[in-house]
Amino acid sequence: MIDSHAHYDDEAFDEDREELLSSVFENGIRKVINVGASMESCKTTLALSESYEQIYAAIGVHPSDTGQLTESDMEWLKEKSSFSKVVAIGEIGLDYYWDEPDRDIQKKWFRRQLELAKEVKLPVIIHSREAAADTIDILKEYAGDLTGVIHCYSYTKESAREFLDMGYSFGIGGVLTFKNAKKLKEAVAYIPMDKLLLETDCPYLAPDPYRGKRNSSVYIPHVVAVMAQLKGISEEEVIRITSENTERLFHI
Ligand code: NI
Repeated sequence: MIDSHAHYDDEAFDEDREELLSSVFENGIRKVINVGASMESCKTTLALSESYEQIYAAIGVHPSDTGQLTESDMEWLKEKSSFSKVVAIGEIGLDYYWDEPDRDIQKKWFRRQLELAKEVKLPVIIHSREAAADTIDILKEYAGDLTGVIHCYSYTKESAREFLDMGYSFGIGGVLTFKNAKKLKEAVAYIPMDKLLLETDCPYLAPDPYRGKRNSSVYIPHVVAVMAQLKGISEEEVIRITSENTERLFHI
């Protein structure tokens, strides 16, 4: 299995990071993409990717952290994006669940980082929460120039159609196992198998029966089981196809 979206640099792992990562790699996880969300976590993400052969890095700034961004930060990201372990720009996007920063600021830096991805020819990892329409509109401005994944997909199958038409893939994690995830299950049933990736977003969003606890890649089989059921294929097929999808998208 490949975890296409994790935050192992998070302080939630400070006490046992090394031990936990050993058990992750002993339990069938072959590769992990660790995703930066702030300038600080881009640095810790790069450090992790240098320490572990199986860990790749995505660098970018989450919409909630765009308030203080500057052009020199963009220069720094551009420089680091040429490192061989950096495989994507992300996570970037829009988050209207929170009022801060202002939507115009979020949009400005979303576009700026999409520009960066286009310039350095890397795929993007998109964070989009309660902002489907604006996310689709902005991504349409770059349609044909960018590829990537809508991480922790949370919208309808109708919105999925729009992202599919632009060539995007979908990151699916613990939420798929929740009893109230009817809309997501419909979307996953609808999305073609070659556009689905497995992810954790750990330490967040642990699947049932660990909901609310600290998440890690070792729980991914709980997501695989539900996906296999929804798609009417074996768990082995889910693992094989999602792994191929992730390797193809990020060239890892
Ligand atoms: Ni994340």
